[in-house]
Amino acid sequence: MSDGASSHTPSLFRTRTPHCPYIYDVCCVEFSNNQHHYTRVSLPYYNTKAYNQPMERIDQSYNTHTETEEFTERVSNMELISSLPLDSVIHGDCVEEMKKLPDNCIDMVVTSPPYDTIRDYKGFDFDLHATGEQVHRILKDGGIALMVIQDQTKNFGKSLTSFRTIVDWCDTIGFKLFETVIYKKHGAEGGWWKTRFRVDHEYMPIFLKGERPQYFDKEPLKIPSKHAGKTMTGCATRLTDGRTLTSKKVVINDKKCRGTIWDYTTCGDGTRLKHQHPATFPDKLPYDAIQCFCPPGGIVLDPFLGSGTTALAALEVGRHFIGYDISEEYAALARQRIAEESSTNQFRLTLD
Ligand SMILES: C[S@@+](CC[C@H](N)C(=O)[O-])C[C@H]1O[C@@H](n2cnc3c(N)ncnc32)[C@H](O)[C@@H]1O
Repeated sequence: MSDGASSHTPSLFRTRTPHCPYIYDVCCVEFSNNQHHYTRVSLPYYNTKAYNQPMERIDQSYNTHTETEEFTERVSNMELISSLPLDSVIHGDCVEEMKKLPDNCIDMVVTSPPYDTIRDYKGFDFDLHATGEQVHRILKDGGIALMVIQDQTKNFGKSLTSFRTIVDWCDTIGFKLFETVIYKKHGAEGGWWKTRFRVDHEYMPIFLKGERPQYFDKEPLKIPSKHAGKTMTGCATRLTDGRTLTSKKVVINDKKCRGTIWDYTTCGDGTRLKHQHPATFPDKLPYDAIQCFCPPGGIVLDPFLGSGTTALAALEVGRHFIGYDISEEYAALARQRIAEESSTNQFRLTLD
């Protein structure tokens, strides 16, 4: 690579992630002002013409040059990234597997742990406290962990697992609670119990590591405004001392912030393959979450991957993924979904 780097023309290199033969990162290395500049051009370079072409590697010799701090950081980032099991589904206990990852290497966690004993997961054990400790350790500063969770009801009482987990992850583990969004389910099959309500929501606590999110883009999540284009009058600001400022006319925008209730249609979501898993979340949910909180090209990890919904969403929006499942059968299902649904473009999102 040193030959290529000493030329003044930027060189493109394709690197292949060690665990996934069909995902490439494209890197650009430029030598100017006596310095190397390394830029990740595209992540992932997935399912494109490059698939069948021979792979080139970045030679480590560029590292021997005197570099700027920024370059050294980029190189160490690249080395860190290449040491991770990117874009792979790993069969194993998520806590034990996460222990193998270095600190501060993951941009975002999106997950849905088993809910108490609501579904039969073949009797596998999971420990949400130990999971939280590892998630906190491996997330980068400003990284987000978004969880979908509900409580089991027994003898007219809720298990409170969701609330306990939120308090534990914040008070003991050290996360901030950025928000708790309600995932409102449309089309949930009726639980027509005579003695209690049908449950048509789940909680989505959004945990933040550090002071502020490293990335936040809510534009792709915006929804149409019901009264777009109309002029609203009487929008007066109330001050803390009780006085009201003179009201102003406001024209309502076409789109508005989605707010803290996210609606998803569960009927018709996913493929026959996906439905082989008993408790999936909608394809669109991780797709929205990842676009909002994970920078392009970043790494999304799901400790409880199930049928692979998070992995497919990450690929769809140009992010890497790492996923674990303790069940060999579900790990195989996730791999099959990734192979079949992302490569044949069957991964269709219900956008309404
Ligand atoms: C609610 S499901 C996740 C479904 C997923 N969100 C989807 O859309 O397909 C939870 C998954 O966690 C897995 N699991 C349970 N205990 C685990 C553990 N200790 N480590 C890793 N995975 C575990 C179960 O096998 C199950 O597939």
